[in-house]
Amino acid sequence: MHILHVVGARPNFMKVAPVLHALGKRAGVRQTLVHTGQHYDANMSDVFFEQLGIPAPDVNLGVGAGTHARQTAEIMSRFEPVVLEYKPDLVLVYGDVNSTVAAALVCAKLLIRVGHVEAGLRSFDRTMPEEINRLVTDQLADLLFTHSEDADVNLHHEGVVAEKIHLVGNVMIDSLLRLLPAAEKRPIDGLPQRYALVTLHRPSNVDSSEKLKGILSSLLEVNRELGIVFPAHPRTRQRLQDFGLNADQLRILDPLPYIDFLALQKRATVVITDSGGIQEESTFLRVPCLTLRENTERPITVSLGTNVLVGQDAGRLRTELNKILHGEAKQSSVPPLWDGLASERIADIVQNQTGKSAD
Ligand code: UD1
Repeated sequence: MHILHVVGARPNFMKVAPVLHALGKRAGVRQTLVHTGQHYDANMSDVFFEQLGIPAPDVNLGVGAGTHARQTAEIMSRFEPVVLEYKPDLVLVYGDVNSTVAAALVCAKLLIRVGHVEAGLRSFDRTMPEEINRLVTDQLADLLFTHSEDADVNLHHEGVVAEKIHLVGNVMIDSLLRLLPAAEKRPIDGLPQRYALVTLHRPSNVDSSEKLKGILSSLLEVNRELGIVFPAHPRTRQRLQDFGLNADQLRILDPLPYIDFLALQKRATVVITDSGGIQEESTFLRVPCLTLRENTERPITVSLGTNVLVGQDAGRLRTELNKILHGEAKQSSVPPLWDGLASERIADIVQNQTGKSAD
């Protein structure tokens, strides 16, 4: 049985790692790893491979940056000959980035089976490029691996047949649990006892000068009360510069490696973010999370977890932050099946279903 995995961007790497490891332990499984090169900086890609113990990709498509159409098309045209050459029994795609939908489209046209890890998440906001990627990928996938019941409900509403849907839990938590001991040992030098960890990169937040200016002024206000540590995505750093915005008062860092970021997240007083994955990690770590978005494709982090959506409302951010600083953060629990075994469940299903058709 030959499984080909496709990854391209930073949030894919912590998802593929445990699935590669779980399938690698099974007899008779051959694996191929394709990196599209959507993320190409060493600190957005290579260091994640090292820390997560992911083998070097068998193929790197080297697509780099571009408009959505150009990047997606480039991945498709470079991936097609690869998949034709390798002839896998199943292609696994991860999350909701352009690499995910591009690979799924190529496979669907070539009648190669596709499995989608982290299927069924919906923000119901089609202005988000990732929402388009999620919708299309889930219509094309043959196996849909979900991490919460709300994702199953979304897929049922979209007409996906029940036999294709597998509630397996959260693979990102598998990586987190494996590397948490290393993160807990990481010394954190030069940081105050209490701090807010900030990440920001959504185009809807950083590509408009007005919005970015508004968020920055809220963050500067928070910073007067609780020091901000801000590992900045390349896009965000570029936009701050393009718009001539001065964020020097915040502790701005380069993007951090996985374990280093986890160490900071675990010890943060609060996380302020517009990321998807960090809403989940902070829920698992029971660290309060204030999300600078109006909606989330991960509602379970709000209903059960530590997450509160504050949008771009500076007043709401201040109120919620005050609650946290005064020990009145919301009660939370960890969602079912976020237990470190999601990738083993995926490996079981892949082996059962693909093993049969490959024989
Ligand atoms: C992508 C994903 C997003 C994910 C994010 C995590 C899509 C549609 N979006 O957004 O869901 O949350 O990754 O980081 O796939 N850049 C670099 N170095 C790199 C990578 C990117 O400088 O290693 C620059 C690019 O040149 C570009 C910008 O960052 O100007 C955006 O990169 P891109 O891959 O298009 O999307 P992200 O914003 O990273």
